[in-house]
Amino acid sequence: MMHQIVKRAKIIGTGSYVPENIYTNEYLETIVDTNADWIYETLGIKERRITGKDEATSDLAWKAGQEAIEDARLNVKDIDLIIVATATPDRLAPSTACFVQDKLKAYNAVAFDLSAVCSGFLFSMSVAAQYIASGVYQNVLVIGADTFSKITDWEKRSCVFFGDGAGAAVVSQANINEGFLAYRLYSDGSGKYNFTVPAGGSEMPSSLDTVNKGLHYFQMKGREVYNTGTRVLPKAINQVLRDTGIDINEIDFMIPHQPSISILKKTAELIGLPFEKVMTNMDRYANTSGGTIPILLDELNKSKRLKKDDLILFAAVGSGWTYGASIIKWS
Ligand SMILES: CC(C)(COP(=O)(O)OP(=O)(O)OC[C@H]1O[C@@H](n2cnc3c(N)ncnc32)[C@H](O)[C@@H]1OP(=O)(O)O)[C@@H](O)C(=O)NCCC(=O)NCCS
Repeated sequence: MMHQIVKRAKIIGTGSYVPENIYTNEYLETIVDTNADWIYETLGIKERRITGKDEATSDLAWKAGQEAIEDARLNVKDIDLIIVATATPDRLAPSTACFVQDKLKAYNAVAFDLSAVCSGFLFSMSVAAQYIASGVYQNVLVIGADTFSKITDWEKRSCVFFGDGAGAAVVSQANINEGFLAYRLYSDGSGKYNFTVPAGGSEMPSSLDTVNKGLHYFQMKGREVYNTGTRVLPKAINQVLRDTGIDINEIDFMIPHQPSISILKKTAELIGLPFEKVMTNMDRYANTSGGTIPILLDELNKSKRLKKDDLILFAAVGSGWTYGASIIKWS
């Protein structure tokens, strides 16, 4: 296993974009059998953003990407790789990254998607860091973008969990003692049916029957997500702490994926991190899947609370299962 990074990579710019339309918990109470207070107390969500009919994932993604390029003080022409982490692509073909490349007019860039659902941005950042480490690419635009509203059954109470949004980061070369210090990624395909979209792929192509049965919507086993999240997040986090020799008390901010406030509180308790250090925006955006980590990073970056040498801990768990953690030294 390779965990020692050769050439360092760091984040030099961030951006994010969420659609304007808001669905509050109170609004959801009017369309399905749910309870606004329960949603807030259990999941930490007050409202979520929902894309319009004519808005696709790439429409959110390119806007977040453009902002990250500007924040990095680069030109679109400087980007040589675009990775889009998404589980809700514009189409099955071509990749959403190709739509984004065209919308950005970033024609010097190679573009591809990465599929790891809620862990997608974390996995994509590690891919970017590898390309920087090997010297193949100089400026990688990593985007996490999802529109789960498009695969949500709005007649079921499972519609409360997700919102739409996108975030982005430009990853470039760093000095020896800054940027990504470690990352650990894991996959466990034995958990593949705990969160899934059954129809629309090669296993079960879309048909009138699959649509009538609602098999093009996501299906989630909530309890499995909770049990797995609270088991694997501490495992991945403790491993990157061991890899780097960093004590949990030295971590300045944790930017986790946003599955539910209960999972985040339990994880913080298990790793011994005060919850004030755990970044969350679930109240405003719910779970934006691939978008959660980069949106939070952009908010933290723009809030000016980040200082040079701050240690940021990233962690994510997603369908697959996929999970992992990473530590960066901000500069
Ligand atoms: C969702 C979760 C709270 C459900 O709890 P659970 O005990 O596992 O599952 P149940 O479906 O038996 O629900 C228990 C009770 O919670 C309440 N509840 C569950 N979903 C609800 C919803 N959408 N709205 C209102 N109440 C809800 C109900 O009171 C329900 O009891 P009932 O079935 O008698 O009505 C829990 O599984 C969880 O937190 N999972 C993590 C989910 C997550 O993070 N998903 C992120 C996406 S990857």
